[in-house]
Amino acid sequence: MKFTKKIGVIGVGKLGEAIIAGLIKTDNSIVNNIIGSVNHLESIERVKNKFAIPISQNNINLVSQCDILIIAVKPQNMDSLLKEINPYITKAKLIISVAASVTINYIAQRLEVPVSIIRAMPNTPCVINQGMTAICASANCNQEDLTLANEIFKCVGETVFVDEYLMDGVTALSASGPAYLYVIIESLAEAGVKLGISRDISTLLAAQTMLGAASMVLNSKSHPALLKDMVTTPAGCTIDGLMELEEGKLRVTLIKAVVKAAIRAKELVNN
Ligand SMILES: NC(=O)c1ccc[n+]([C@@H]2O[C@H](COP(=O)([O-])OP(=O)(O)OC[C@H]3O[C@@H](n4cnc5c(N)ncnc54)[C@H](OP(=O)(O)O)[C@@H]3O)[C@@H](O)[C@H]2O)c1
Repeated sequence: MKFTKKIGVIGVGKLGEAIIAGLIKTDNSIVNNIIGSVNHLESIERVKNKFAIPISQNNINLVSQCDILIIAVKPQNMDSLLKEINPYITKAKLIISVAASVTINYIAQRLEVPVSIIRAMPNTPCVINQGMTAICASANCNQEDLTLANEIFKCVGETVFVDEYLMDGVTALSASGPAYLYVIIESLAEAGVKLGISRDISTLLAAQTMLGAASMVLNSKSHPALLKDMVTTPAGCTIDGLMELEEGKLRVTLIKAVVKAAIRAKELVNN
């Protein structure tokens, strides 16, 4: 994929960096077609050390130059940022926001010009191009806008289009999800340690097992319960482990964790 339009990343923090790295990996020539902005002077040096792209604190200059604006600032910074860039937004621009909880309407209401807006929710594995990004779009987005947004996030992993009302659920499931899964990996590794396996080997066993199991779900397209049954020999040891998980209410705990995080995701910004 070659990106011909000029892309501006407002907020080159953890996620902004991951997106820029993914874009450059996909199309190295994009370094001539991408610029970034940050809040603090010190951050300019950090970004300069990573990418050969123009980087400054000047959002106005960025907005004026770019066709596609990827906004990756914290949700609480969105209001002031949108006020700052509003006078420079033209109809031809495409805005892509990754801010959790910030709705398309929240952005549209703060801009005088009706503009195409994409709301995306990626996750941290984007850093290693194994991200999962859910995307939704304002009603005035055309096919080209959708394709562009999809291609951008494909540079950092898998993508899916959803209706906007599902975005808080997505935030709780796949954006917060890595945190839940790290706890599971850590706990399985602790179990290995308890059974005398070194921490390094235990962590490798747990993490690679999670990766393999996830790949089985994605590649086989089988229901996870069916794959679980394939591991569970009658009167074997796995069923004993599963019984402990049921007694510890693992399933309902995970469901409740995601539901609770979705409620919080709605509250991050007063839409
Ligand atoms: N990290 C994730 O896993 C994840 C997943 C999905 C969505 N998101 C969303 O992505 C956004 C960024 O998250 P993050 O984890 O990357 O945060 P982060 O590392 O704190 O990055 C935010 C960046 O925004 C910059 N910034 C703040 N105000 C600015 C302004 N007025 N103009 C230009 N730049 C400005 C900051 O600059 P300085 O560096 O100079 O302070 C920083 O580089 C958030 O809205 C979050 O909800 C994050």
